[in-house]
Parts: sequence; structure tokens; C-alpha cells
Amino acid sequence: MDRRNRTVSKKVEGVRTSDGAGVRLTRIIGSGRMMELDPFLLFDEFKSDNPDDYIGGFPDHPHRGFETVTYLIAGVVDHADSAGNSGTLQPGGAQWMTAGRGLVHSELPKQKEGMLWGFQLWVNLPADSKMVPPRYQDIPPEAIPHARLPGGAVARVLAGQAFGVTGPVQGIVTIPLYVDISLPPDTSLSVPVEEGKSAFVYMIQGEGKADGTTLTAGTLGQLSDGDIVKLAAGNSGCRVFVVAARPLNQPVARWGPFVMNTDEEIQQAIEDYRAGRIRD
Ligand code: CO
Repeated sequence: MDRRNRTVSKKVEGVRTSDGAGVRLTRIIGSGRMMELDPFLLFDEFKSDNPDDYIGGFPDHPHRGFETVTYLIAGVVDHADSAGNSGTLQPGGAQWMTAGRGLVHSELPKQKEGMLWGFQLWVNLPADSKMVPPRYQDIPPEAIPHARLPGGAVARVLAGQAFGVTGPVQGIVTIPLYVDISLPPDTSLSVPVEEGKSAFVYMIQGEGKADGTTLTAGTLGQLSDGDIVKLAAGNSGCRVFVVAARPLNQPVARWGPFVMNTDEEIQQAIEDYRAGRIRD
């Protein structure tokens, strides 16, 4: 079978900013350098061992019209929402929340000190799914399966399929792939990524290449279309996300925590929130 390599069509480094109650973070998608990578609306990394950078967390705030995906590498985060879900995110765990027509939730660090390191990705919903009931998938670390590959690479699969492993997140309309890959020094790995999907790689740690383009830690590489991406680790190894999903090709109207198709729908969301209707 002929393979078509995905290449890096654009490199983006994040912008330092803060959100929630003063949480310092790096915004890679959702700011001036890359407003959107359809269907991805936002991609944040938070990483600090200084409690002042994270202790305020994200107190009660609403969402409507898309999905939030939290993936934690280090630290512990308590969460609770107005649909009655609550729990504790552990290192290596994840939460895939389909906000749909809306809910109000909080995400607060449980720890008072130590390293907090994780990511939040926002995935858009198509027009006919924006007002679905909220849905919540809580994925403890041990529920994320991994594949051990020749050469020593390890791929944890949160969503989609890779290397014969199927991720635990199910029923997501954009058919996402979300894989966390650790590559030993000077090894390489080809990762199938279904043709037609929007895709990016993000260098979590270390340095490596995607189809020959060097990516240092904290750099996102947007991928051209194709059906495979060739990763190669530098001489100290690397850890990298490969993320993909079907693009929606629909108009995007966004205002803070609401992402709809039209300005009228945004106005409605604001009105609903003020009236207390964005709660289950
Ligand atoms: Co939130």
C-alpha cells in the first residue's frame, strides 16, 4: 500500500498567558500565532512547580458548544460540574468532557506544592451536536492502554487507534486520535494518521523530528495531509503528542467559554448563562 507522509506545514510556539484564577500557562492554539486548527480551538500547557502559578485553579466557569480534554502528566486536580460529575484527576489520567449545550464546572489543583503539569485541548462540535446533553468521560491512568514497540517506544492511546491499541474515549463525533509517545534516544517511529484529518504533533519533552523537521520542547508542528507521520527522537529521546480529528469546515463564533456557529447563538449562550440556564 502506498503511504503518503505528512510533513510539518507550520511550526508554532506557545504564548505565555494566564487564565482562570491566575493560572500561568502557555497557549499554543487559540492565540495570535494559531487561532484555530479546525476542529481544535485551543491547546494549553500548564507546567510549574511554583504553587503561585497554579494554586487559584479554574473556579466555576461555563462551557457550551465544544469539548474540553484535560491530560495530566504530574499533579492532582479536583473537578466538579453542575451535571453532578466530580472526581480527581491523577497523574497520567485524563478527562474528556463534551460540554454540549452547557454546564458549569471547576478544575482546582488538590496539591498545595510540587509540580503541576498538564494540557487542555478544546475540540469543536459540529452545528448539529453543539446542543447535545453534556457528557463526561473520566479516564484514570490505568485505563489508558499503551503499546510497547520495537526499538523501545511506548505509545499511550487516549482516543482513536494506534499500533493495535484502542483508546478508552468513545463516541466522539470528530473521531479523534490522541496519542502520547515516548521515544528512546536516536530511535524513530512511523505513526499512521488517517487521511483527511487535521493533525498536529506537539513536543512535550526533549527534541525530535517530524518528517525531518526539528521540533524542540514546547513546539507544535501542524501536519499536512497524508496517512502517516515519521517521528525521530534526538540523542536524548523525546516525548510527543500526535493528535488528529476530522475538520468541521463550519463557521466559528467564539466568545470566551462559548463556541458556536453564529453571533446570535453566542448572544443566546450569554443570556442563558446569566439566566442560570447553562446547568443540567
Ligand atoms: Co473548563
